[in-house]
Amino acid sequence: MKLSRLAERTPPSGILAISNAVKQRAGAGEQLLNYTVGDFNPQLFPIPRLLEDEIVKAYRNRQTNYPATDGNEDLRVAIAAFVKKHQALCYNPSEIMIGSGGRPLLFAAYHMIVDPGDTVIYPVPSWNNHFYVQLTGAIPRVIATEPGNNFMPTAEEIRPFIKEAVLLALCSPQNPTGTCFRAAQLKAICEMVVEENTRRGSEEKKLYIFYDQIYYLLHYGREQHISPVSVCPEVQPYTIYVDAISKAFAATGVRVGWCYGPEPVIGKIKTMLNHVGAWAPMAEQKAVAAFLNNDSAVTVYLNGFKEALLQRLTTIYKGILHMKMKGLPIDAIAPEASIYLSVKIALPQDMTTVLLEEAGIALLPFRVFGAAHAPYWYRLSVGTCRMEDMAPMLRGLQRVLEAHMQPVKEHRVAAGSKTPE
Ligand SMILES: Cc1ncc(COP(=O)(O)O)c(C=O)c1O
Repeated sequence: MKLSRLAERTPPSGILAISNAVKQRAGAGEQLLNYTVGDFNPQLFPIPRLLEDEIVKAYRNRQTNYPATDGNEDLRVAIAAFVKKHQALCYNPSEIMIGSGGRPLLFAAYHMIVDPGDTVIYPVPSWNNHFYVQLTGAIPRVIATEPGNNFMPTAEEIRPFIKEAVLLALCSPQNPTGTCFRAAQLKAICEMVVEENTRRGSEEKKLYIFYDQIYYLLHYGREQHISPVSVCPEVQPYTIYVDAISKAFAATGVRVGWCYGPEPVIGKIKTMLNHVGAWAPMAEQKAVAAFLNNDSAVTVYLNGFKEALLQRLTTIYKGILHMKMKGLPIDAIAPEASIYLSVKIALPQDMTTVLLEEAGIALLPFRVFGAAHAPYWYRLSVGTCRMEDMAPMLRGLQRVLEAHMQPVKEHRVAAGSKTPE
């Protein structure tokens, strides 16, 4: 069947391929510990009560017609206030666009900045950039990040491609690693972007930063969440933030997201999404405005939610460190943010299928996030993790590691090289 060139170059999702295989097994009655999804079990993690009530109320009040094409004014005002409170950044409602979650905004922003043949820089592992690059026909310049840099790109790694690029796609806290930029790391990148844009002539396209911060309210460290404009105010004209209620409020199915940045770019995103019609539903927009305006409801929800997520992340992290101390080939990065734990299993074979078949544990390898250079790393999501499942999961993991440990010793001796990250 002949379809468009776009259809032909659109890659299938590597994440979905594994998730579907896991779902198929679960559907066939297998008891699985499915930690692959970037989603929540709503029985464990429901959306905030106030948000739920406001959604129902809005439907009862017949808030069912078209919303404003760029998002309802009351929601954009609420988001401007929210951004001021949580990030100490000033944006006018006219610099904010509402969409049905983060995805359509990323899709439209890519299309409004990138032409076929333009260069886009992004780090790996990361979420979906390879997909958007394929869709826009861009040339990817991929930074293979190091665990020693929290799996975040550095200015020095980006510098060789900076002159040719129109877009630098960043995400912090990062999916799949759950790690964040350090202020000095991000500042050096932003200063380089400002310098590059100053060098470019008025006729040339500028270099923009997308800053996907959809997990930023799920931040566990003592340090605050940082972002381009907070570490380098001069980068504001070139920065587009993407955010949503999907992760911070366990509301992946409610479909409300927003982006903010320089008005000329946001204006074009509005125009494009108007034709796609990827608006957030009217009732949900009304409800999110009411919820975000209620500081105490937001704080109470986030405190409880973060505590429950961190408890899971920490329990699993400590369990893994315990195995490491016993000499098993496993390690993890201490939880920093989001719902993800970066787990390293230093065995030569890909453990995705082995763990699934021998212990019913489903994880996602970093390779599905474009990181072929990090074959020993896996993402473990706690969004569907029940407290009572953690001990059996850790026991199962230990059993599999013990059973498969021998080959790695032989492999290491034979190869005589250090373990690749
Ligand atoms: C980093 C990142 N950005 C954006 C999204 C998309 O979020 P939404 O469900 O709001 O479209 C996801 C979803 O997994 C994500 O992980």
